[in-house]
Amino acid sequence: MEKKVTKIGLLTSGGDAPGMNAAIRAVVRTGIYHGLEVHGIMRGYQGLIEDDIFRMDSRSVANIIQRGGTILKTARCKDFFEYEGRQKAYENLKRRGINGLVVIGGDGSFRGAVKFSNEFDIPCIGLAGTIDKDIHGTDFTIGFDTAVNTAVEAIDKIRDTMDSHDRIFIIEVMGRDAGYIALHSGIATGAENILIPELKSNMKDIIASLQEKERRKKMVNLIVVAEGDDFGGANEVQKALAEKLPKAEIRVCILGHIQRGGSPSCIDRLIASRMGFHAVESLLEGRHNVFVGILNNRMHYIPLENAVKNKGKISDEWMKIVKILAS
Ligand code: ADP
Ligand code: F6P
Repeated sequence: MEKKVTKIGLLTSGGDAPGMNAAIRAVVRTGIYHGLEVHGIMRGYQGLIEDDIFRMDSRSVANIIQRGGTILKTARCKDFFEYEGRQKAYENLKRRGINGLVVIGGDGSFRGAVKFSNEFDIPCIGLAGTIDKDIHGTDFTIGFDTAVNTAVEAIDKIRDTMDSHDRIFIIEVMGRDAGYIALHSGIATGAENILIPELKSNMKDIIASLQEKERRKKMVNLIVVAEGDDFGGANEVQKALAEKLPKAEIRVCILGHIQRGGSPSCIDRLIASRMGFHAVESLLEGRHNVFVGILNNRMHYIPLENAVKNKGKISDEWMKIVKILAS
């Protein structure tokens, strides 16, 4: 028979994402509503191993729904890759009587949670918190909407100066393994080309299309590149283009960590609140080792294993849209 969850541990792990605080607030308040104890774990798996854990109450999450970052802080934790580290983490939870764990993080954090829950008797529930949106089985991840809107706002500004000077701009956005930020922000800002890790970049085609545009005096061109693109990021793309387009004025802008910060958008606050609420409900229903996803506006519980094994596929339609709209 399933053991009833009475004390929940809660942590944020991996890259932070706007909306993580809204999710923390939702987990804490839903837990307290159900009469559970909620314990915050500082700095992700690092704090779990170091027993940096404290009891949270309703007030400890006041006035955070609108704040970026995470009040629980986050970290990348080498020791959690080792069995001994995870054992220490489990012993800390056991000693404190914590019998359910909510992990807010990206696919790496989910990978850690899968191992942890397979090895030890502790149900884990994941909340997809990553600006990269690289978790399979959900239409949304906490932080993506805010990050992509930050990118769009920045690119719009760059377009003003790019247009005034008739320049080519190569803008690098985040996404080490996933191109969703590049695709969404690129289409939304009218990019001529978008380079993403999921697809092989055809520099020959890009150069040919820019040369053709140069012939018809279209000098303003926006290229959005995900940092993990196979060509090696915006600086490498610039080198390749400069060689073949000596007359063009080419500039690079790397947006960087600005995309990870800032006040979460309404969508991110909303999905974080819904997901946080359902994380607690699902623990109480006896679910374990699933993450809370939203598909077609309905909540789904997807095995953590599925999220880490499957990679989302970028539909060909997206690139077709880029090509047709950028003429
Ligand atoms: P994200 O969750 O944003 O993808 P990371 O990939 O850096 O971020 O993962 C966050 C943390 O999750 C890692 O620092 C590590 O502690 C843990 N983790 C990731 N992958 C594994 C794994 N294969 N085994 C155990 N722990 C892992
Ligand atoms: O949050 C995910 C991500 O933004 C990746 O796209 C990026 O490569 C990485 O985090 C960089 O994170 P950090 O600087 O914290 O290592």
